[in-house]
This record gives sequence, structure tokens and C-alpha cells, in this order.
Amino acid sequence: MANATLTIGGIVGLVLAVPIIGSLLPPKSDAAGSWSPLTPEELDALKKATSKPVKLTFTLKFTDAYLPEQSQPEYCWGIRVDNNEKFMAARPDIFTAPGGKPDVPYDVVNMGFVLFSPICPHLGCYYGWSDAQNKFMCPCHGSQYTFDGTHIAGPAPRGLDPLPMRSQNGAAEVTWIVYQSNTPARIVVSYQA
Ligand code: FES
Repeated sequence: MANATLTIGGIVGLVLAVPIIGSLLPPKSDAAGSWSPLTPEELDALKKATSKPVKLTFTLKFTDAYLPEQSQPEYCWGIRVDNNEKFMAARPDIFTAPGGKPDVPYDVVNMGFVLFSPICPHLGCYYGWSDAQNKFMCPCHGSQYTFDGTHIAGPAPRGLDPLPMRSQNGAAEVTWIVYQSNTPARIVVSYQA
């Protein structure tokens, strides 16, 4: 009984802690050079991807007002987009502005790919991809998303958030952006551009 209580207490503590950890994500940086390259192997895997997302790792560089530049390992999820119009139609929560413009401060589809932040838009947990269920699933409160990031179940108020990506001398680079949790609109909290 005591063990069960401890276990339940641990799970509740973890669920409560995740949004707090999320709020400690790196603050906005004004430093140049915060873009991080994907490896040629990762880019190759993205090119070959069809109906499965690819997990991409990168080193996130950031600064704040007090410390010199820091770095930490991060990852995101990438999908190949063969048909822009189809993707835009599937994600009206992104392309909300007049003329089909995205509600984010950068192009969403780059080099034929879209990268998704690994942070669940509900309360900031890291979600994962399930091959068996063929969808993204968040372990914290059960939000689910399709391959293209459309929200299909659970309490999240919007679909997956796209990360900024660009092509630089043939290489793909990614940078970090964090949006406010649990709001239908994407409100920028920090942006490493
Ligand atoms: S953080 Fe609540 S469902 Fe993902």
C-alpha cells in the first residue's frame, strides 16, 4: 500500500513538474548564430521518409542576460511534405492569416519538410511517435496528433507547433521557438532567431 502511494505520488509529481520544467526553457536570445545544423544523415532520412516522422537531434545554443552562450541537446520531429496545398488544408490552425499565410513568423514548409517542436502544446510535455498507433501521442494527458501534426484527441487546444527551418549552403538548419502552452493561438514566448 505504501509503495502504491509512493508510486502514485511520484506520477502526480512528474505530471505537475513537467509544465514547470517547460517554463524553464531557454529565454529569448538576440545572439546571432543560434541556428543548428541537421546532420547529412538526418537530412537523408527526411528525404526518404514517407508516412513516418523522423526524429532529429541538434544542439540548441542560447544565451540570456547574465550567462555566456550555453548549449544543450534537443530534438524535434520532421516530416516530408510532398504537397504544400494538402498540408495547408490539413492545418488550418497554422495557416490562419489572410491569403493562407501562417500565424508564425517564418515559412513553415522549407526544402519540402516541416519540423515540429517536441513540446506538446497542451502543458509542455514531450510527446512521441507511436508506430503501432500511427500517430503522435503525449504521455501526460493523452493528446494525440496525426502525422501532419493535426490535433485529434485529448486536451491540447491546437495542433503541433512548427519550428523554424532554413537551407544554408545545401544544409538544413533548425532553430528554437517556444509558444505559450494551452492557448488556441500561437503566442511566442521565446524565439532563438
Ligand atoms: S502536456 Fe497534456 S496532453 Fe501533452
